[in-house]
Amino acid sequence: MNNTQSTGLIFELSKSGRRCHRLPKCDVPNAAPIDKLIPKEHLAKVTPPLPEIGEIDLIRHFTNLSARNMSIDTNFYPLGSCTMKYNPKRHERIAGFPGFANLHPLQDDDTVQGMLEILYEMQQYLAEISGLPAVSLQPAAGAQGELTALFVAHAYFHDQGEGHRTKVLVPDSAHGTNPASAALAGFDTITIKSGANGLVDIEDLKSKLGPDTAVFMITNPNTLGLFETQIQEITELLHAQGALVYLDGANMNAILGITRPGDFGADMQHYNVHKTFTGPHGGGGPGSGPIAVRDFLAPYLSVGGVMRAGDGYRLTTEADLPKSIGRVRSFFGTIGILFRGYCYIRTLGPDGLKGVSEHAVLNANYLRALVKDTYDVPHAGPCMHEFVASARTLLRTKKVRAMDVCKRLLDYGFHAPTVYFPMVVSEALMMEPTETESKETLDAFAEALVKIAAEDPELLRTAPHTHAISRPDEVKAAKEPVLRWKS
Ligand SMILES: Cc1ncc(COP(=O)(O)O)c(C=O)c1O
Repeated sequence: MNNTQSTGLIFELSKSGRRCHRLPKCDVPNAAPIDKLIPKEHLAKVTPPLPEIGEIDLIRHFTNLSARNMSIDTNFYPLGSCTMKYNPKRHERIAGFPGFANLHPLQDDDTVQGMLEILYEMQQYLAEISGLPAVSLQPAAGAQGELTALFVAHAYFHDQGEGHRTKVLVPDSAHGTNPASAALAGFDTITIKSGANGLVDIEDLKSKLGPDTAVFMITNPNTLGLFETQIQEITELLHAQGALVYLDGANMNAILGITRPGDFGADMQHYNVHKTFTGPHGGGGPGSGPIAVRDFLAPYLSVGGVMRAGDGYRLTTEADLPKSIGRVRSFFGTIGILFRGYCYIRTLGPDGLKGVSEHAVLNANYLRALVKDTYDVPHAGPCMHEFVASARTLLRTKKVRAMDVCKRLLDYGFHAPTVYFPMVVSEALMMEPTETESKETLDAFAEALVKIAAEDPELLRTAPHTHAISRPDEVKAAKEPVLRWKS
């Protein structure tokens, strides 16, 4: 590999006069010159300093850059809670059909009937899978789904004359977006402790539940990969107080076709279509976080849902839903991801979806069994679709941290598990293999983890050793990204 081409910045490769293509002279008879078509004041006064480069060098530059990233298409990616499953290429092709990809967000409803029909059916599938009949496809990610549902709860309670319900209860193992969404929606957040078994501590819940409780947000299976077996009792407790139960549906990959949040007592939930139903994600990529709610909450949903209108379909407006919380997303939602999810659901059907969850759970338990003698797994199994191990013994005996293990995994060609989350486990390594991985991949990953635990601590503390970038300051990279080239 030519190093300049793989590591140089595109501007540094620039050589005056080089081109990827040369356009022929315009052969349109009597074509107006550019300064007749565009007013002079809008024309650039100086030529922008763009890189000048030949096509082969350009292609090598970007191809080599792309190969530096890990992705689900290149490496095993057991990032817990993120469901990094294989994204079938067929869905990419379908979502890219010109009839979908070239739609304009401002087109009239009657010119986008095919798309609206797909979205309408998607609403029905998501209602069926959750057991919650009213769906909004609008939210752009799981976190926005949470926020939208909490706005719905807020509007519902105010409409019922119960504006005194100002508290949202959230277990200490919850994803950080749960309390953040509650705060953004104007509620006070109360933390509920987990017991030693990793499940919601019912006594703590009872002690904090009261007439001012609006919503209990629960993730089931929870972020420790454990099914909250007391879920029925929990939902009954909440309902007896007149409060609502919200299910964080990020972990739906464990229960598809096996149990339904609506059946175990949830009143609202979000989906992460980009996780459960194979939308490509990562690096902050596009998401889709539809919500599903019980009938009595439907009047408060965001407008912009798809409804039947005569023989066709149209988007709901304030006139259809006078009590609506309004719009939470422009236009139709993230339809590229929704189409991929739709293809996935249609391809697999009810039995196929159930098989997905059964295999996701089987794979996680297999991996757990392979690593549990090397890494502590603080909570008793079996697990659901993921489990949380800990590097705390390595820290005590060798001063090696969970982050060091993760960085070293990169040298073995594996993406790291989720690290330091959930916060209730010290030195957490949260692993979610998903159903799309083979036994050989899981064996190889477990073998790498076991080998790493026996390696020289210094080798681990300075890992990775095979990557162009080793340990960037991740906070600085996120807060102060350098996105522009400077000479
Ligand atoms: C348990 C859980 N809840 C909520 C979210 C938020 O979802 P999103 O990233 O789509 O906003 C995540 C994301 O990782 C999650 O793992």
